[in-house]
Amino acid sequence: MLKIGIIGCGYISQKHLDTLLRINRVELAAVSDVQKSKMETAANYYRKAKGHIGSIEYYEDYLDLIQDEEIDIVLIAVISGLHGNIAKQALLAGKHVIVEKPLALSIEEADDIISLSKAKQKKVLVCHQLRYRPVMAKIKQVLKEGHLGDPYLGVASARINRSPEYYAQATWRGSWEHDGGMLINQGIHIVDLLIWLLGDMETVYGEIGAGSLHQKETEDFAAGIINFSNHAKGVIEVNSVTKPSNQGYSLSLFCEKGSLTISGNGLDRLDHCFIENGDLLVEELKTLSSKKNEHFYMYQNFIDCIENDQSDLVMDASEGKRALEAIFAIYQSNNLKNPITMPVTSFSTKEMKQVSVGRKKT
Ligand SMILES: NC(=O)c1ccc[n+]([C@@H]2O[C@H](COP(=O)([O-])OP(=O)(O)OC[C@H]3O[C@@H](n4cnc5c(N)ncnc54)[C@H](O)[C@@H]3O)[C@@H](O)[C@H]2O)c1
Repeated sequence: MLKIGIIGCGYISQKHLDTLLRINRVELAAVSDVQKSKMETAANYYRKAKGHIGSIEYYEDYLDLIQDEEIDIVLIAVISGLHGNIAKQALLAGKHVIVEKPLALSIEEADDIISLSKAKQKKVLVCHQLRYRPVMAKIKQVLKEGHLGDPYLGVASARINRSPEYYAQATWRGSWEHDGGMLINQGIHIVDLLIWLLGDMETVYGEIGAGSLHQKETEDFAAGIINFSNHAKGVIEVNSVTKPSNQGYSLSLFCEKGSLTISGNGLDRLDHCFIENGDLLVEELKTLSSKKNEHFYMYQNFIDCIENDQSDLVMDASEGKRALEAIFAIYQSNNLKNPITMPVTSFSTKEMKQVSVGRKKT
């Protein structure tokens, strides 16, 4: 039985606890949070739901959890600005790591994590769970097998609403140092899917901005254009100021032999799908579009890889770095007013503190 310790017992930790309750190859052995009540709530929830009678350690300092010899896997679910450093510390201590998105807030930290994962021969899973959704895995397979022919254009949208209260609830949100921008927090899943499906990026152009009601440090909206090495183009448009409320996400692909759009608040509606001579595939995609369970599949893949080194981890640290690179390139491009030739070799969201993102109400 593998033992896991959770660092950060806030909102997203609940999703992980619910998944752990359904996985019988891992058990919760420790929790860490700066707020004791949050550790208690998380541990009690797990104990009660699982009927767990083993001990669950509480650590106010996450470094103590990392040093706990009983722990095999460290799950990092704290504020984003701490992900990179905690992941490095955990790998140095010889732990496997599950890190919430984003992997880190700088290219340098992402590279360190990738190197340490190799050097220590420990797995790093980055929680871009949508890659594990059955319909997304099927779209990837359909593209790879050539049923859609050459991809021409992909469009990724996130049109959501995050109120001033959302940012007021937790001060780390909306800061370049602790959260990264809105593209990193809210846009990263749809950006990751787009580049996962379309492949290697050659150049990225982007601009970001903020509305007149802007109250936080980071951007409210962003637009990007990606040129992929297979000649496909990608368009990204993400905003967190959609009135009056969330309109959801959407991902479209336009290819030589077909096109599709998947959208909705939960990205679970196949609005359009056509594949030349592919009626059966279209039916299969329609059936799969409402199926979720991605966290469960993500954990299964991770544990399979720990138990059998030959298995492929769909979302490892190198893959987690790709969405960061795309987004960092949009920020760099915005600052330099030029397209960026990939790869991005150095960038930290802290650099954005010097940048004025747009209008401020006077
Ligand atoms: N994969 C997804 O779909 C998804 C969804 C939501 C959030 N997230 C990610 O999860 C992370 C956490 O987001 P959240 O919404 O749960 O935030 P949150 O504010 O609800 O929870 C963060 C928790 O970390 C704790 N914390 C802060 N500093 C700490 C420290 N030094 N040591 C231990 N604990 C500490 C806080 O007390 C809090 O309980 C973010 O990085 C976010 O991007 C991912």
